Amino acid sequence: MSILTVRNLQKSFGDMAAVKDVTFSVEKGEAYGLLGPNGAGKSTIINMITGLFLPTSGRIHLNDIDVIKNPKQAQKSIGVVPQDIALYQDMSAKENLKFWGRMYGLSGKALNDSVEEVLEIIGLTDRSKGKVNTFSGGMKRRVNIGAAILHKPELLIMDEPTVGIDPQSRNHILETIKTLNSQGMTIIYTSHYMEEVEYLCQRIGIIDHGELIASGTMPELRETIGDRSRIILSYDGELPEAAKLQHELAGIFPEKDITILDQKLTVFHKEPQLVLTDFIKAATSTGAKINSVDIVEPNLESVFLHLTGRSLRD
Ligand SMILES: Nc1ncnc2c1ncn2[C@@H]1O[C@H](COP(=O)(O)OP(=O)(O)OP(=O)(O)O)[C@@H](O)[C@H]1O
Ligand SMILES: [Mg+2]
Repeated sequence: MSILTVRNLQKSFGDMAAVKDVTFSVEKGEAYGLLGPNGAGKSTIINMITGLFLPTSGRIHLNDIDVIKNPKQAQKSIGVVPQDIALYQDMSAKENLKFWGRMYGLSGKALNDSVEEVLEIIGLTDRSKGKVNTFSGGMKRRVNIGAAILHKPELLIMDEPTVGIDPQSRNHILETIKTLNSQGMTIIYTSHYMEEVEYLCQRIGIIDHGELIASGTMPELRETIGDRSRIILSYDGELPEAAKLQHELAGIFPEKDITILDQKLTVFHKEPQLVLTDFIKAATSTGAKINSVDIVEPNLESVFLHLTGRSLRD
């Protein structure tokens, strides 16, 4: 059963189309990932779902609620962790959480219980009295996540919650999300880190230049590249006789899928071990100064490269 449906969503800023005809749905209880590079349109999509931006056109439903017509009603069931941290710096973690709890209509014992429970979940019970301006970026981020789950939302939306924080907080955040999801909370997780999205999410939508260019489970997305691995050859300097090399490689690889990008020559193959020697021979024969050769199992980076000809990390 879908908890959220997004249909033909568009958003333009002046004549710049930031989100173009995006359609997807999120099932109750799943973690859905929105993966895409900087400027792809992820935050703009999130901001329309949470009622911060009005779409140029399209429809958004949360359960039976029309989010565009009744944003206030929808917001009761949504928790949001925005991309930019929004906390009172000279208040303690606990005071910040109490502030947000009151915003959600909690008071008295319910508020206190909820704040204590959330402090436990985000692992900051011991530091609850510390002022936020004495916290690391990762700890602040955890308070932000806590603020979003005080009212036990059905749907938790997180916009790149692990950007620029220490590895320990990052791991803590990922485990917290895993736990919340396993306890039944539906999650939308936005990131440009494919490893996080692969780890957390059962289904993933890939966004590029405002468009949803692929959506599905990992096996479904891997199928868009024929479940092929990537052989990546890194080289120094120029790639001499690149055209000749491409021609030779086209003979070795039945499905022509050769990319030369950022001093890396990439080809796709179902059984890379079988063609590795020929591949290296062909590259060496053109005088390429080879640094390394890697074989990468089918992953989201491969899907993105295949669909766009670009790297996710641009
Ligand atoms: N308020 C705004 N006014 C004008 N343009 C905007 C506004 N918000 C976003 N944009 C533009 O819309 C496009 C999509 O931006 P968005 O913030 O949604 O990307 P993103 O995928 O969240 O990127 P990032 O990973 O960097 O956060 C960008 O080109 C951005 O410059
Ligand atoms: Mg963003």
